[in-house]
Amino acid sequence: MNDNPDIIMLLIAPREIAGRLGRASAAKSAAKSAIGMAEMLAHEIKNPLAGISGAAQLIAMNLGAEDRELADLIVEETRRIVKLLEQVEQFGNLRPPDRRAVNIHDALDRARKSAMVGFAAKMTITEDYDPSLPATFADPDQLMQVFLNLIKNASEAAGPQGGNIRLRSFYDLSLRLRRTDGTGSSLPLQVEIIDDGPGIKPEIAKEIFEPFVSGRENGTGLGLALVSKIISDHGGWIAVDSVPGRTVFRVSLPVAPREAAQNDMEVK
Ligand SMILES: Nc1ncnc2c1ncn2[C@@H]1O[C@H](COP(=O)(O)OP(=O)(O)O)[C@@H](O)[C@H]1O
Ligand SMILES: [Mg+2]
Repeated sequence: MNDNPDIIMLLIAPREIAGRLGRASAAKSAAKSAIGMAEMLAHEIKNPLAGISGAAQLIAMNLGAEDRELADLIVEETRRIVKLLEQVEQFGNLRPPDRRAVNIHDALDRARKSAMVGFAAKMTITEDYDPSLPATFADPDQLMQVFLNLIKNASEAAGPQGGNIRLRSFYDLSLRLRRTDGTGSSLPLQVEIIDDGPGIKPEIAKEIFEPFVSGRENGTGLGLALVSKIISDHGGWIAVDSVPGRTVFRVSLPVAPREAAQNDMEVK
């Protein structure tokens, strides 16, 4: 994934890993224009929608029970559309990352705790961290948002009986991004979110990072598009490998520059 056309990826990895990562989906520039258009539409649609909802509520007051049910349906469905539109707007409003030295495990922990009291309450989450991992260079809130979205998808993929999620961190020097201008950057910090759910549906596997691609009935298809955008803004990389029973999302991130790491230490 990466929506910057100036960036290509150079991968030095054992063949098996290279093969898996090669199947990673990419956010294309088409996604950008789709989002821009959707954002404009979202803004324009919200006003008349408020009018529709308000009128339906007024009408409902003077109706018998049976007709009122229909009017309530209009109000309810309108609310659903507004929620979707707000998500589209949130996507468009994503500010540039405010980057600093961040402990990846702090971000993972915040995401895990928030998930456990909400949508991941039925899941068992285990941690498998490399405690010696150096800090990455990221916007802490956006990084947490990435992990939260990935844990959310893993939870939603599991059935009502729940399932297992493994959060894994490790160091792997074989990942480098190389831009077409010859500059490159190393992405040695790896985070994997692994679940034992049914896996990604093959018919959407190639497009899951695109906006509005969803395999769920009430999905918006914006979660992974947002994840992809944030990782791209951080100069990182995301890849996925999924078979029934094992889905792995791997986020690869850079190490914080020494000055940032030192400043952050001083602040603490
Ligand atoms: N861990 C996972 N296991 C199985 N399918 C997944 C997983 N993560 C994402 N997906 C698939 O990718 C789709 C897109 O995800 P996302 O962009 O977050 O949108 P949404 O969650 O709103 O559908 C999901 O609807 C689901 O079909
Ligand atoms: Mg989602």
